[in-house]
Amino acid sequence: MSGPNQRVLDFKARCRIPAIAAPMFLCSGPDLVVESCKAGIAGTFPALNQRTSEGFEDWLKEIQDRLGDDDAPYGVNLIVHPSNPRVQADLELCVKHKVPLIITSLGAVPDLVNAVHSYGGIVFHDVIKRRHAEKAVEAGVDGIIAVAAGAGGHAGTFSPFALVSEIREFYDGAIALSGCMTHGGHVLAAEAMGADFGYIGSHFIAAQESMAVQGQKDMMMECSAQDITYTDKVTGVGANFLTPSLEAASIEHAPGEMSLNEEAKAWKTIWSAGHGVGATKESLPAKAICEQLIAEYDAAKANICG
Ligand SMILES: Cc1cc2nc3c(=O)[nH]c(=O)nc-3n(C[C@H](O)[C@H](O)[C@H](O)COP(=O)(O)O)c2cc1C
Repeated sequence: MSGPNQRVLDFKARCRIPAIAAPMFLCSGPDLVVESCKAGIAGTFPALNQRTSEGFEDWLKEIQDRLGDDDAPYGVNLIVHPSNPRVQADLELCVKHKVPLIITSLGAVPDLVNAVHSYGGIVFHDVIKRRHAEKAVEAGVDGIIAVAAGAGGHAGTFSPFALVSEIREFYDGAIALSGCMTHGGHVLAAEAMGADFGYIGSHFIAAQESMAVQGQKDMMMECSAQDITYTDKVTGVGANFLTPSLEAASIEHAPGEMSLNEEAKAWKTIWSAGHGVGATKESLPAKAICEQLIAEYDAAKANICG
């Protein structure tokens, strides 16, 4: 292979800039996805943001009804883990509705990749280390999401420079770089260092269309990078959290085996965000956030490339 495959290039060509609004538990739903896609940035959401597979299918239908051919494509995050009993049913719905991008977390499985390829979809798998990327490439994924230090959610601990460079040693397919991106110039920087997409999460938490509770949105606007704590004490997996929300909650969970049930409970009051939180100054419509990212990307490109 040399460079991203044709399916990925087709996906990218439908975006105004090479950026993906990343899936966020309890934050991303149809409104955020649709408004991002309409503004030209691929919108995504975790299937588990709906309580049942039936509800998930309703969202898929709604998103497809609201999106047109000129909009950026959308994606769904599936958590491939023994504690997620819905993964097969949700995958079948993705196949039925031909979801353009599937983002897998935790497990990268060849059967899933084949099912998505059967209708022309693409699979990106998120990783925090080289070994996980190697396994995902063996499973045949179309892209690797390199989750670097400082990212919101289950973050990595490595510098983006080191992580992307190590993955590029053995992989020339698509890489989306995740962690702390809040400016269009960051997306261009990701491309300059060898990635193909910027993957932006926390910057959309306070968006008007985000399903995050108001307290979380307010805290986003009050915090900066120094207010983020990386810990595995909440659910057993290292993640970045808004320190004031950690302090307000009494953490009863000790590190141990990860369980999605435990995660679902914990993340309602202990709010995750990445080091880029300082860029969130107000609650804007997703369209405005995307348009700003696009304008910044174009300006940075003109500035550097002339
Ligand atoms: C509140 C929150 C919830 C998240 N939930 C998920 C999730 O359900 N599935 C997933 O694959 N990634 C999840 N992530 C990680 C994001 O998809 C993405 O990797 C990350 O937000 C990028 O870093 P940034 O927040 O610094 O932009 C979450 C991140 C945040 C901040």
